[in-house]
Amino acid sequence: MIDSFNRNITYLRLSVTELCNLRCRYCMPEEGICKKRHEDMLTQEEMLQAVHVCAALGIRKVRVTGGEPLVKPNIVSLCREIAAIEGIDELCLTTNGTLLAPMADQLKQAGVDRLNISLDTLDEQKYRMITRGGELAEARNGIRAALDAGFLKIKINAVLIGGFNTDEIASLANLTRQYPMDVRFIELMPMVDNRNFGPDAYVPNTIVLEKLPELEPIPVDGGVAKLYRLPGALGEIGLISPVSAHFCAECNRIRITADGKVKPCLHSSDEISIKGLDETGMFTKIKSAILKKPQWHGELSYYERSHARRSMNQIGG
Ligand code: 5AD
Ligand code: SF4
Repeated sequence: MIDSFNRNITYLRLSVTELCNLRCRYCMPEEGICKKRHEDMLTQEEMLQAVHVCAALGIRKVRVTGGEPLVKPNIVSLCREIAAIEGIDELCLTTNGTLLAPMADQLKQAGVDRLNISLDTLDEQKYRMITRGGELAEARNGIRAALDAGFLKIKINAVLIGGFNTDEIASLANLTRQYPMDVRFIELMPMVDNRNFGPDAYVPNTIVLEKLPELEPIPVDGGVAKLYRLPGALGEIGLISPVSAHFCAECNRIRITADGKVKPCLHSSDEISIKGLDETGMFTKIKSAILKKPQWHGELSYYERSHARRSMNQIGG
């Protein structure tokens, strides 16, 4: 469906849980999360109904996000049912990878087409620090299992944080020489609750081009990443710059949170509830949410923070 600014909305990001087995410092609030009441969250049936409605409104691609989707008990069957919905051509899933190893095959068989796996550092200590206790080896096992399960075009997502991982840009990028995977550097977004990062943490993605002058640009049609390749590499390098160069004009997505709020824009406080509605009710609300999608999210910086009143684990990235 075409929105008020002539963008064709074809992509749904569906957050299936706010819970996560990790506690990344830029995503989860310092004090941890306050678990919501089960009855306030969308049921699996409601999620499927919402995806049906979205398909009728022109959504073609669904990304399952969280929190961490793999902590959700019935995630494999949920994926299988989403993949079977008429009109949905592409099903992707974003995960931190630490629970992926025993599930990669099942997810592939359920119809998940592609995986994005978050990995901000290749150093065990730093991984423990940024995730507040995660084990790098588990994430790396998950990545290996995804490759073994036959997933193609796996994307590794690294959030760039000044003073934390800018010294690892080359080693993270080198993963594209070792494996047939893409690595994407994402600018840290200033959410309400990640004020623990000072101004220096917000580095523009151009630093990747400075550190890796050998990157060769690849022309792109669509998508929010600028693409490059290291000479001879198997995978691509993507730069996603929500802060330094917003891509709102090309934004084709809406979001649905695990507690049943449609978010027309990641950084807006606008939320439209679809919890407890029947199919007709959801259709009306989701359509109105698409029409309310703002032209852009407004300035973002350390000083001008996102207007979203949620932390990232409650939105789905
Ligand atoms: N800025 C940029 N990316 C973020 N993510 C979570 N919080 C932020 C933030 N503040 C990323 C995670 C993961 C994806 C779900 O969103 O690293 O790759
Ligand atoms: Fe969990 Fe992902 Fe948030 Fe880290 S970024 S706390 S892995 S949801």
